[in-house]
Amino acid sequence: MWVVHQIHPDIQIHQIHLDSPEPGECRVPTTENPFRPTAGATPPEVIGRSGLLDEFEYGLDLGSGAPGLLSIFTGARGIGKTVMLGAAHAVAREHGWAVIAETATGTFMGRIGEKMRRLTHELADNPESRRRITGLSIAGFSITSQLTPERQVDWRELGETLLTLLDERGTGLLITVDEIHAADRAELAQLAANVQHFIQDRLPIALIFAGLPSAVSDLLNEGVATFLRRADKIDLHAAAVRDVEKSYTDTFAAANINIRPELVSEAATATGGYPFLIQLIGYFLWREAEKNNGQLSRDAVDRAITAGIRRNERVVIEAALAAASAKDREFLHAMSIDDGPSATADIIRRTGSRPTLIAKYRNRLLDAGLIESTEHGKVDYAIPGLREYLRKNPDS
Ligand SMILES: Nc1ncnc2c1ncn2[C@@H]1O[C@H](COP(=O)(O)OP(=O)(O)O)[C@@H](O)[C@H]1O
Ligand SMILES: [Mg+2]
Repeated sequence: MWVVHQIHPDIQIHQIHLDSPEPGECRVPTTENPFRPTAGATPPEVIGRSGLLDEFEYGLDLGSGAPGLLSIFTGARGIGKTVMLGAAHAVAREHGWAVIAETATGTFMGRIGEKMRRLTHELADNPESRRRITGLSIAGFSITSQLTPERQVDWRELGETLLTLLDERGTGLLITVDEIHAADRAELAQLAANVQHFIQDRLPIALIFAGLPSAVSDLLNEGVATFLRRADKIDLHAAAVRDVEKSYTDTFAAANINIRPELVSEAATATGGYPFLIQLIGYFLWREAEKNNGQLSRDAVDRAITAGIRRNERVVIEAALAAASAKDREFLHAMSIDDGPSATADIIRRTGSRPTLIAKYRNRLLDAGLIESTEHGKVDYAIPGLREYLRKNPDS
């Protein structure tokens, strides 16, 4: 087959490999596109997150009450919170723990109760276990409405029974709740109170939450679930660009995709280490390689970067802006004049709005995960590319 080694865009060296398949049979890249630019999807490589679950894993061995068993992942949209929850599920399962994964939409206590009920049934495989669960009210939980006070009592009893059965087997239960910024506060308080109770009873329970930073800090400060302040708060940030570069280099080399180091570096820099862009740009680079028999020229790399950024704008930025009011956007546009964090005083001056009004919109935007507060009471965009997008689209 013909293998084209590109040293420079204008110079190509053609080589014949006699032991390779006939032309037409060979396919470069040699595997399927491994990138996963989809919310929550497991990426080909989880970049820059090593060690983050060490405390949790250690906690699984220690058992009830270990600090790592109570954790909260926070970070902007697309930073990789759901992926970390998935990684925690995998670690827990490796240790033989049962896992209940929920998202905080609608009513989740009933759904968790229902899953606990099924797990309990599955465990009742011997007479002793069966005896333990007889007499326990384990009728199904409504998964569409909030738990009534009586069902709350059932929920706790069921939890105790299930955790006792798991404890006897030397394992435990991990409950994760994603997107807690969207959660009903009363339900979160209920869940937290129950988990606290299980921990006091030395039952093997782990709880991990994930959500947008401002919503999580509000939640902890409001006293909805004071005991959650003890949780290990893990704030996720962008990965280092050099780690992205290394990951791209390895992934492409393994699939026989030919790309010059400086172009890999350019693509990695364009991601800013932001996980969703890592997947998007990687995905489009791979598509370009498929169209060009494994070769990634400068033009192809530029096209992939543009396509990745555009898709991030549509999926993350425009979706986030769609939920913003005209006044929210005015605030956001006023920030785009700055190259870094914006001072409240400047936003007041640029918009000509009253300070109380600006304070109100500041809170709204913090809650929506569009901005985050930085040092000295300044605010900055919480989503990569938002500043550039607003500058490019002054009418958005
Ligand atoms: N550490 C990582 N390295 C590379 N890609 C990642 C990483 N974490 C997440 N991703 C990718 O980024 C995207 C967003 O991840 P997700 O967990 O859904 O973010 P969040 O829940 O914070 O919005 C997904 O396409 C996922 O595959
Ligand atoms: Mg998520």
